[in-house]
Amino acid sequence: MVPLHAACVWLSLAPLLVLGVPPIWTQPEQVHLSYAGAPGSMVVTWTTFNKTESKVEYGLLGGRLFEMSAKGDATLFVDSGEERRKMFIHRVTLTGLKPAANYVYHCGSDEGWSDVFLFTALNDSSSFSPRFALYGDLGNENPQSLARLQKETQLGMYDAILHIGDFAYDMDEDNARIGDEFMRQIQSIAAYVPYMTCPGNHESAYNFSNYRNRFSMPGQTESLWYSWNLGSAHIISLSTEVYFYLEFGQELLFKQYEWLRNDLEEANRPENRAVRPWIITMGHRPMYCSDDDQDDCTKFDSYVRLGRNDTKPPAPGLEDLFYRYGVDVELWAHEHTYERLWPVYGDKVYNGSRERPYVNPKAPVHIITGSAGCRERTDKFNPNPKEWSAFRSTDYGYSRMQVVNATHLYLEQVSDDQYGKVIDSIWVVKEKHGFSAWL
Ligand SMILES: *[C@@H]1O[C@H](CO)[C@@H](O)[C@H](O)[C@H]1NC(C)=O
Ligand SMILES: *[C@@H]1O[C@H](CO)[C@@H](O)[C@H](O)[C@H]1NC(C)=O
Ligand SMILES: *[C@@H]1O[C@H](CO)[C@@H](O)[C@H](O)[C@H]1NC(C)=O
Ligand SMILES: *[C@@H]1O[C@H](CO)[C@@H](O)[C@H](O)[C@H]1NC(C)=O
Ligand SMILES: *[C@@H]1O[C@H](CO)[C@@H](O)[C@H](O)[C@H]1NC(C)=O
Ligand SMILES: *[C@@H]1O[C@H](CO)[C@@H](O)[C@H](O)[C@H]1NC(C)=O
Ligand SMILES: [Fe+2]
Repeated sequence: MVPLHAACVWLSLAPLLVLGVPPIWTQPEQVHLSYAGAPGSMVVTWTTFNKTESKVEYGLLGGRLFEMSAKGDATLFVDSGEERRKMFIHRVTLTGLKPAANYVYHCGSDEGWSDVFLFTALNDSSSFSPRFALYGDLGNENPQSLARLQKETQLGMYDAILHIGDFAYDMDEDNARIGDEFMRQIQSIAAYVPYMTCPGNHESAYNFSNYRNRFSMPGQTESLWYSWNLGSAHIISLSTEVYFYLEFGQELLFKQYEWLRNDLEEANRPENRAVRPWIITMGHRPMYCSDDDQDDCTKFDSYVRLGRNDTKPPAPGLEDLFYRYGVDVELWAHEHTYERLWPVYGDKVYNGSRERPYVNPKAPVHIITGSAGCRERTDKFNPNPKEWSAFRSTDYGYSRMQVVNATHLYLEQVSDDQYGKVIDSIWVVKEKHGFSAWL
């Protein structure tokens, strides 16, 4: 039998536990990594509920533990829910990391330290062949692919993860406790490899404040749009949501468009494109899709693809921009399905050739991968897709991508429903990159 006084202590703690907040307010949690963009860098981000210092202690695997240390800052994030919950988001940027070396670290302060984690500093050579896991629409409830992703990430199968929007369902819910819980849930992945993100519609609450505050992507846009390089790829992350939530600032749509144009112009300078020939974009809502989600692609022409004419001035879409600058691969999510498209532009298929459509394709290759698992389940497909639809699956799962070298890029789809079976794969082969590759 539990002694009475112990039971009382237990009962008096109960409300705290029920609220889901840790009784040690200075204890770090929700640890995750992101690439800061410069060779040899990595950002460590975490949360505490009281203000503490922000320190990372780290060292080479096999060397003396915590030999080095780095300091950063914490920002106060006040959620906009009724309770106005407060938390401190800590960010420390590690620099001067040795390419491809393994590091052991923990983070926190003398008032509380995290568990110990490891990561591999990214190899900054353009001949490196990075491996990615990519998916969108992973929730706190029914996160079906999570276990497989946890194990594969910890086994070292990926150099980075791309989460293409829609987190937690939704981070703001229950006064942002769902956000906390989701960030704890992905720590088993995101504390080991850079977890690179873009915003989706499920992040829109309070002007995307949970998303903007909790992640630490490169650039100065609060993680809304940015680009980075890895291996022979230039990767651009963007917000498709600027086309839908005009109430948060129509100027964001135009700002992003200008930024995208400048970034693409820069990436296409011959000396840059020669080193990073692959330009890959990731954004949440696709330009094309053939499922019954009903909100875009199928019901009306995608704003992301063609822009909007009900704004002043009219808002340009992204299909022409990406085509003009020779974007090779476009990664999307939002539809809770997997769909691969034949090379497509302007609603028309431009195969490299009938026999080998992805060898020197004459238009960008689109992949939609939004079936990682969330409370909304998967979507159903329309029975008669347009001719650009090449392969479709409603299994839960995620995609893998390897940018092998300047000419070869590999993509495959994993079905979690079928215990990790690879249900689709392609090689995109390009002897030439840039606009002239289409001609
Ligand atoms: C620590 O955080 C808790 C929860 O946010 C808050 O109630 C408490 O006032 C904070 N204490 C200090 C000293 O800041
Ligand atoms: C980085 O990758 C390249 C290409 O695979 C390899 O040659 C090089 O040795 C790697 N760098 C390190 C430090 O391992
Ligand atoms: C929403 O957030 C963005 C990014 O911080 C900001 O530029 C914009 O002004 C905000 N909009 C509103 C209505 O506060
Ligand atoms: C405006 O866009 C809608 C669909 O996005 C289209 O149906 C309509 O024809 C366009 N109007 C003009 C004047 O371009
Ligand atoms: C593109 O290639 C695929 C695979 O060979 C083929 O099924 C499809 O009909 C082709 N589409 C066009 C428009 O040529
Ligand atoms: C690029 O990778 C492909 C696939 O592994 C290989 O066949 C090809 O020879 C490689 N090209 C170069 C230049 O190494
Ligand atoms: Fe979505």
